[in-house]
Amino acid sequence: MTDRVPLVAGNWKMNKSAVEATALVNILAQSLAARHPVCDVLVAPPFTALAAVIEALRGTDIMVAAQNVFWEDSGAFTGEVSAPMIRDLGCTHVIVGHSERRQLFGDTDTSVSKRLQACLRSDLIPIFCLGETLDQRESGSTFAVVKRQLIEGLGSVKFASPRQLILAYEPVWAIGTGLNATPSQAQEVHSALREELGTVFGAGFAQQVLILYGGSVKPDNAKSLFDCEDIDGGLIGGASLKADDFLGIIYSA
Ligand code: PGA
Repeated sequence: MTDRVPLVAGNWKMNKSAVEATALVNILAQSLAARHPVCDVLVAPPFTALAAVIEALRGTDIMVAAQNVFWEDSGAFTGEVSAPMIRDLGCTHVIVGHSERRQLFGDTDTSVSKRLQACLRSDLIPIFCLGETLDQRESGSTFAVVKRQLIEGLGSVKFASPRQLILAYEPVWAIGTGLNATPSQAQEVHSALREELGTVFGAGFAQQVLILYGGSVKPDNAKSLFDCEDIDGGLIGGASLKADDFLGIIYSA
């Protein structure tokens, strides 16, 4: 048995000014204070809105993540932001290896692994994203691809506790497309990922790791996905930008 508490996380991507971000989290905080969800809730605003959002959420249970992190702690790396800086702001989590970072900004399994290790050094929990493209799914290599991403990304990373890792399975073909994986398609990948984690870290560890699903999660499909045994919540893009949609998903969990 496991005591995994589901997590619903909003990945805002490159959206919202600090003022807009504050307005959105104020609505979320009010609603969640009036009606407590049974899941944990997290938002990942762009870097420029992190400070405002953290300030607005002080005293609430809503957690805040950055959307990326550089692997060195400081130095001559113009334009980059380090894990100690993100931790210093008050973030608890970082999204690492999102498919948009892999596809548009050259992230590889190796760089993802370095980012993961930087998170752990600074006591930040990585939300480690992986998932196959449409071509990979159609050619039958989904399991091989996500297992490779998992193993290479985790590399030689040492975890003191399964609470230091969150996985997000996000099939690339389902992100922002309106095409979500069916609950059974998602469940079979989640279960394979948990099995692989068990092989590497032991079954007890694997049972405690949260595995989120991401890719066109909406209020009307969230429940059927979250009901699956190995789906521990979601990483929500588009639908996390509107309070009503995000709250609808949170209350499905
Ligand atoms: P989506 O994005 O919900 O808009 O498909 C999910 C994500 O990219 O994390």
